[in-house]
Amino acid sequence: LALATAGAQAQTFPSRPITMIVPFAAGGPSDAIARLVGQSMSASLGQQVVIENIAGAGGTAGAARLAKAAPDGYTILIHHVALAAGAALYGNLTYETTNAFAPLGLINYGPMVLLSKKDYPANTIAELLKMVKENGAKTTIAHAGVGSNAHLCGLLLQKALGVTLTEVGYRGTGPAMNDLMGGQVDLLCDQSTTAVPQIQAATIKAFAVTSKERLPVLKDIPTLEQAGLKGFEFVIWHGLYAPKGTPADVVGKLNGALQKALNDEAIVKRFVDVGTNVFPPSERSPDAHGARFAAEIAVWKSVIPKPVN
Ligand code: MLT
Repeated sequence: LALATAGAQAQTFPSRPITMIVPFAAGGPSDAIARLVGQSMSASLGQQVVIENIAGAGGTAGAARLAKAAPDGYTILIHHVALAAGAALYGNLTYETTNAFAPLGLINYGPMVLLSKKDYPANTIAELLKMVKENGAKTTIAHAGVGSNAHLCGLLLQKALGVTLTEVGYRGTGPAMNDLMGGQVDLLCDQSTTAVPQIQAATIKAFAVTSKERLPVLKDIPTLEQAGLKGFEFVIWHGLYAPKGTPADVVGKLNGALQKALNDEAIVKRFVDVGTNVFPPSERSPDAHGARFAAEIAVWKSVIPKPVN
């Protein structure tokens, strides 16, 4: 009977709007990607995909909400590297990261960009790294909560330079970027998705990218490795999740709608224009996503053996 009910549910799915949780503030990269993909998924599923920003605690508050939701496909979550890193960083999570989520498919991957406020005195990455080393904690660096990409990028940078900067936490890089533009903080590491439009509008300054190669859309900006930080690489990725226990047919329908969005040339161009990439179809199945997620949880647990929160 339970199987028959699940089968009938999947046949009619979705019969009402779907909530896509964004675990960071509106206006940031996760929100931008969710809205782009969500709009296309709404059209192919024939039901509205409604974005709900549940920000806080480096993206773990939104993840906790998904873990508590009914496993019926009507509540899904967009998340990134921080969902895996959070398992190592947080000792007080209300969910078991390895067991609470059903991966639905990978979306995009791309680098971050080291940015400063417009009137920061440095003009090249060499000048910036020198100033940061000399000024130490007098330099402020914004992030989007402990475990966010911006936070992890800032930590890697401080470790590579052997300095301790003053970190300023926000509920997403949307509000962090606003303060960077307003000159209230000195530095921010943001995903290219939201950094590139601001760099092009010259509201902030860009110094280096965190990928191994330069970005075609920012070809004048060196990599951190080219700037002398040997082996520095940080590439972030987003994926979609449902609660664990969501019926396989429903997972299949949600993955199908995601795949369709990522096959749309207009959407692919929107990604490429801001320096981020759509995963190839072979890596977009729930299984491939699950394998990457499990591997990344293990990596972060080995890098951070004891929770800091
Ligand atoms: C956001 O949307 O605010 C970001 O994905 C935050 C981050 O992890 O840096």
